[in-house]
Amino acid sequence: MKGIVLAGGNGTRLLPLTKITSKQLLPVYNKPMVFYPMETLLRAGINDILFIVAPDHAGDFLKLLGSGREYGAKFTYEIQDKPEGLAQAFVIGADFIGDDNITMILGDNIFEDDFSETIKNFRSGGHVFAKEVTDPERFGVVKFDENMRAVQIEEKPKTHLSNYAITGLYIYDNRVVEAARQVKPSGRGELEITELHNWYLKKGELAVDIVKGEWFDAGTFETLLRASSLMAEKAKKQQ
Ligand code: DAU
Repeated sequence: MKGIVLAGGNGTRLLPLTKITSKQLLPVYNKPMVFYPMETLLRAGINDILFIVAPDHAGDFLKLLGSGREYGAKFTYEIQDKPEGLAQAFVIGADFIGDDNITMILGDNIFEDDFSETIKNFRSGGHVFAKEVTDPERFGVVKFDENMRAVQIEEKPKTHLSNYAITGLYIYDNRVVEAARQVKPSGRGELEITELHNWYLKKGELAVDIVKGEWFDAGTFETLLRASSLMAEKAKKQQ
């Protein structure tokens, strides 16, 4: 199993903070945001990691994270020239992925959960994670049947589907590279990750689990602040 941290994009929702740096390099309490998803992968036993970054601040990522040796890991970097969608990561990362399975985490997603068991036991198909939220319209949303089996997934649905957001950690088998190559740009001009979930869902090969601990998409002022406060509280408790 290899890992991708997707840390490109424009970060327009966080302007003017992102005028001079990348969203994923902004501080969340006492470290840059990107450390949290990186540590989630390392904690799960993944130490061959590709960072996909935007051209503007690529050098800063390299300076911050380096070779990965410091963490007992190997870090590789690729540039995404334009933010053309999350699913594009598997096309950009195709050479890096090679014949392996892949776990991708978004560079602005902060998880408390430990995914090591799920990743150790992963064999094939797709495995994604949902969390109940109060603002599902901001996310990819999954609808479950009465047995908590996923039946429908939509990206930012206009009408209410359910309160379960799909979080930004995705485990896929190697077929995801081929599936991603077939995705066409959506109405908003992006290769949507939701298309890949649906590719597996249609085959009956998508597992959807519930995230137990806290989860943040730290990409807005509000969630950036909440993530920092929570991390500060946790650090205080551990003292
Ligand atoms: O946070 C979970 C949500 O992330 C999921 O529920 C959605 O299904 C998924 O589409 C995504 O939605 P967002 O609206 O939060 O995506 P956003 O455009 O904010 O991008 C998420 C991260 O990926 C962000 O750190 C920037 C980065 N990114 C984004 C795009 C579109 C890239 O690196 N490249 C890109 O092309």
